[in-house]
Amino acid sequence: MAHLFNRNVLLGVSGGIAAYKSAELVRQLQERGARVRVVMTRGAQEFITPLTLQALSGNPVHTELLDAGAEMGMGHIELARWADLLLVAPATADLLARLCQGRADDLLTTVALATPAPLLLAPAMNQQMWRDPATADNVATLQGRGAHLVGPAEGEQACGDVGPGRMADPAVIADAADALFTGGELSGKRVVVTAGPTREALDPVRYISNHSSGKMGFALARAAADAGASTTLVSGPVQLPTPDHVQRVDVVSAQDMLEQCLTLLPACDIFIACAAVADYRPAAVQDRKIKKDAQETSLQLVRNPDIVAAVAAAEHAPFTVGFAAETNDVLAYARDKLQRKGLDMIVANDVSDTAIGFNSDQNAATVLWQGGEEALQRASKDTVARQVMALIARRLTAG
Ligand code: PMT
Repeated sequence: MAHLFNRNVLLGVSGGIAAYKSAELVRQLQERGARVRVVMTRGAQEFITPLTLQALSGNPVHTELLDAGAEMGMGHIELARWADLLLVAPATADLLARLCQGRADDLLTTVALATPAPLLLAPAMNQQMWRDPATADNVATLQGRGAHLVGPAEGEQACGDVGPGRMADPAVIADAADALFTGGELSGKRVVVTAGPTREALDPVRYISNHSSGKMGFALARAAADAGASTTLVSGPVQLPTPDHVQRVDVVSAQDMLEQCLTLLPACDIFIACAAVADYRPAAVQDRKIKKDAQETSLQLVRNPDIVAAVAAAEHAPFTVGFAAETNDVLAYARDKLQRKGLDMIVANDVSDTAIGFNSDQNAATVLWQGGEEALQRASKDTVARQVMALIARRLTAG
């Protein structure tokens, strides 16, 4: 499973013959789900054109530190903040020396100083340069400061020498980048979270909906991504920014949400239904605005599909978690939904309390599963989400 999914990889390319392999490296990183931007030194541009890496990465290539136009768009500080990983491949002897000295004399070295992201170096140089004590000292210093190293490989070199110094294969480098993001309790898992309300259209200007803000669902998606999962958020209409490292799919109606969830199902290990899905929708959607001529009117509603029940009933169903939004007899109704919908777990919350219900910043819940339960005290939705994620991880390992 790609841990690079949705990660921002800033690829620094310095000036060595191995720079031609950086093109393949961009592709390898993208295949693992990473978003890639490229910074090139002046030397690198002698070996491969920015246009090639721009075409492959789908983003403009950054080359100049002092470029007023670039600084107005994504300047060196924005690039440094954007990166989840700074990967330098190839890292030449000169680049290693400049990084070691903390120089900021071009865009790549400046970004390296300005970013809090981990640094992964793929050295590439002549075997004698690699063996030189100066290079060895520089590499040791950089590793001592926390930099990671992949390669170099041994073998025949472009200059005709044989020995250590060849840049590692792009697939090996991409795997090393991927490995830096393992380690969370849901690492390697694919999580789908539904969030927010659905809107069920009556006519072109009106709809039926509810008060869900999406805050709880977005907190769950954030917690899943932080726990190392590849996370997709299927969201109804809300006013919230997408959490980092989360793939977002926007939907409007229950029917849209069902379709998106079923599409995502083959690549889903854990499904968390936090959305407040409208149980009913108008039997017919008028194509023109309904006029208010009559003193009274009535609406005919039909049942919406039950998304979480459909997921739980699927062949090869993921570990399926529902939420129960109740105003009374919270635990009894939640237990009933756990059974009736065929869920592995349900999170029961009392939405009659405005401090912890719809649109609040806090929640409190009782998590129920077959043969067990755990109460989660009132806390921020982010905290509750992290606790839910820890319980899911525990239930998964309990088998
Ligand atoms: O979004 P916030 O403002 O942060 O508020 C959070 C919340 C209160 C919406 C959330 O914590 C919550 O309780 N979500 C579940 C809301 C809900 O629809 O509960 P329910 O008891 O009606 O449904 C039970 C389960 O079935 C839920 O997992 C729901 O997503 C699912 N369902 C319901 C109906 C339907 N047609 N399809 C479904 O999948």
